[in-house]
Amino acid sequence: MTKLWGGRFSKTAEEWVDAFGASIGFDQQLVEEDIEGSLAHVTMLGKTGVLAPEEVESIKKGLNTLLEKAKKGELEYNVANEDIHLNIEKFLIDEIGPVGGKLHTGRSRNDQVATDMHLYLRKQTQEIMALVKKVQGALVAQASEHVETLIPGYTHLQRAQPISFAHHLLAYFWMLERDYERYQDSLKRINVLPLGAGALAGTTFPIDRAYTAELLGFDGIYENSLDAVSDRDFIVEFLSASSLLMMHLSRLCEEFILWSSQEFQFIEIDDAFATGSSIMPQKKNPDMAELIRGKTGRVYGSLFSLLTTLKGLPLAYNKDMQEDKEGMFDAVTTVKGSLAIFAGMIETMTVKTETMNKAVHQDFSNATELADYLATKGMPFRQAHEVVGKLVLVCIQKGIYLLDLSMDDFKQASDLFEEDIFEILQPKTVVARRKSAGGTGFSEVLKALEKAKGLLKEKK
Ligand code: ARG
Repeated sequence: MTKLWGGRFSKTAEEWVDAFGASIGFDQQLVEEDIEGSLAHVTMLGKTGVLAPEEVESIKKGLNTLLEKAKKGELEYNVANEDIHLNIEKFLIDEIGPVGGKLHTGRSRNDQVATDMHLYLRKQTQEIMALVKKVQGALVAQASEHVETLIPGYTHLQRAQPISFAHHLLAYFWMLERDYERYQDSLKRINVLPLGAGALAGTTFPIDRAYTAELLGFDGIYENSLDAVSDRDFIVEFLSASSLLMMHLSRLCEEFILWSSQEFQFIEIDDAFATGSSIMPQKKNPDMAELIRGKTGRVYGSLFSLLTTLKGLPLAYNKDMQEDKEGMFDAVTTVKGSLAIFAGMIETMTVKTETMNKAVHQDFSNATELADYLATKGMPFRQAHEVVGKLVLVCIQKGIYLLDLSMDDFKQASDLFEEDIFEILQPKTVVARRKSAGGTGFSEVLKALEKAKGLLKEKK
C-alpha cells in the first residue's frame, strides 16, 4: 500500500516491518483528541487566510463525520497507515477528496501528537482528580462515624499508642490531598499548546498559534518550537504523581488486608469487593486490595520506562518517543480503576468497633501515659521511662495489664503516683488528652474533619 509519505521511496516495507513500527494499535485511543486538534488547526488556517473558506468548510465537515464514526466505533483502522494521525488523514481524503490533504498545512505529526497527548492528559487528569475527591469523601464519611472509635496505633507494627480510628483514616485524606494538589499543579504545564511548532522549527505559513490555543482552551503556547515537540515532562509528571498516589493506595491496601484478617478483625470488606476460594469454603479474600497493591508496580514501571526512554534523546522528535503512550494509557486505566474500587470499598466496609475496643484495652499502649504522668510531676523523663518499663515488666510476668495494678504496686514504683492514675490510663482518656495540633485528641480530630470537609467543598 502506498504511504501518505511515499513519494521519496522506491520500495515499500514488508507488512511485518510496518506492524513493528505502527502505533495505531494503541494510539487509536487518541482519536477524539486528534480530530479535536485538527478542527482547531483548520479553523485557524481559515482565519489566517492560509486556506479558503470553502476548503475549511469541507475539511470541518469531513472531520465531524469522522468524529461521529469514531464515537460509534465505526472507523476501521489500518496498520499500514502507521498511527492515528495518518489513519485519520487517509479517512478524511477518502471522505472529501484531495482537499483533505490540505489539513496538514503548517503542521507536522510531531506537534500534532504532542497536542493530542496534552488534550488527552488534561481530560484524564481532571477525571482522576474527581475520583481522588470521591475517595476523600468516602474517608471523611467513615471518619465522621468513628471519631471516638479507638484502635491501637502502631510503630514497627507493634502496638504503640491508642488513637482515634477517624484520625487514622484522615491520615489518608491528607495524603490524597497532596496527590490532588500535584495533579492540579501539573495542569499548568499540561495546558500549554505545542501545535504550530511544525516538525521542529516552526513554519513559513502565517499561522496564529495563540488563536489555536484559545480554541482548544489552552492557557498559552510553548515558547520554543524544539521544546514543544520534544517535551514529555508533562507525562513524566503525570506518571510520577500517579506513582505517589498508587503508593498511598497501596499502603491503605496493606492495612485493609491486615485489618480484615482473622488476626486483627478490625474491619470486614463488603462481599462486593471480596472473593472466595475455589477450594476452601470458609475463605473471604481481600482480592481487590491485593490487586491494587500489586498494580502499583506497573505504574512505577511506566514512570521508569519513560524516564529511561527520554534520557538519551537528542532534540527534537525521535521515534523512541512513540514509547511514551502505552505506559501512560495503562497508568490512566490503573489509577482510575483503583480509585473507583477504593471509594466503594471504604464506603461499604464494616468497622468492627468491639474488636478494636477490646484491642486497646488489652495491651500496653497506655504506657507512655505513665511516663508522661511522672515527668509532669517533675521526674526527668528518662528516669520515668525506666520506672514505667519496670512496671510493664512486672505486668508481663504476672500476665496482667497496667490498669490491673493496685495503688500499692504504683506507689512502690514511685510515690508520685496518685489515685487519678487509673483514670489517666483509660484508653479513651489517653486519646482525648493528645490535644496538640494535628494529634489524635478528639477535639483535634473534630477540627481536622471540619477542615477536610471545607477542602472537599472547595473542589469542583
Ligand atoms: N506515532 C508517532 C508517535 O507516537 C507520531 C509522530 C510521528 N512522527 C514522525 N516524524 N514519525 O510518536
